[in-house]
Amino acid sequence: MNFEAALRDRPGRDTKRRWQGAAAKMKIDVLTLFPAMFAGPLDESIVKRARGAGRLDLKIHNLRDWARDRHKTVDDRPFGGGPGMLLKPEPLFEAVESLSDERTRVILLSPAGRTFSQAVARELAGERHLLLLTGHYEGFDERVRESLADDELSIGDYVLTNGALPAMVVIDAVTRLLPGVLGDEASAQDESFSRGLLEYPQYTRPAEFRGMKVPGVLVSGNHAEIEKWRREQARLRTRQRRPDLTR
Ligand SMILES: C[S@@+](CC[C@H](N)C(=O)[O-])C[C@H]1O[C@@H](n2cnc3c(N)ncnc32)[C@H](O)[C@@H]1O
Repeated sequence: MNFEAALRDRPGRDTKRRWQGAAAKMKIDVLTLFPAMFAGPLDESIVKRARGAGRLDLKIHNLRDWARDRHKTVDDRPFGGGPGMLLKPEPLFEAVESLSDERTRVILLSPAGRTFSQAVARELAGERHLLLLTGHYEGFDERVRESLADDELSIGDYVLTNGALPAMVVIDAVTRLLPGVLGDEASAQDESFSRGLLEYPQYTRPAEFRGMKVPGVLVSGNHAEIEKWRREQARLRTRQRRPDLTR
């Protein structure tokens, strides 16, 4: 990778174009068996602010509301045998049909999906409406994956109990990229992964703490030198810690 080009070519450009084309408000619907898990993380900090400012319209739906029997059954045993239960197609199909339209991007959360990243978060931030399908038990009947989902995302190579935490990870990462949400959009442009680099080291006051001094250039007032130092540090840190990002 050409680091200088990566630094010059601010990632915001492409994203911003899509932001401008996107509706002012993003809508996210989540289908889950555990609505209570979402209280707390999505009622704090930047996501709370985005919701309060009308930038994010977030709704959490209980999949059992689309169950057909009085026991609210949403799962069944897998054909061919094997451990665990699978989410049945009927409630999921009916829920997705009632919550989506032709502009909705339906995303299935699954360990078998493509890996979620900052680049994918930027891609999703340009959408108007996301519908996140979160699984439980052994996961989904394959027809959900084949016929309902536009995309399948994994948040990493490990298996969680259900899709609530992965959905919250996606919502958080996408929301902070919506225009105006961070307040200072430059902070999203300089942070890790945004330009194919990790972020440079940062310091705040005091300039000396327990004998540890802030690098002199940062208190020099010379902005060109500060920018140069930051580029070098970002490059160095990326080479040392994440050489895979530089290929
Ligand atoms: C116990 S997992 C099912 C795992 C599935 N049997 C497999 O081996 O791939 C239950 C649900 O949690 C969610 N989940 C678990 N780990 C995840 C991950 N790394 N990324 C995204 N979703 C995940 C998915 O929605 C999944 O359907």
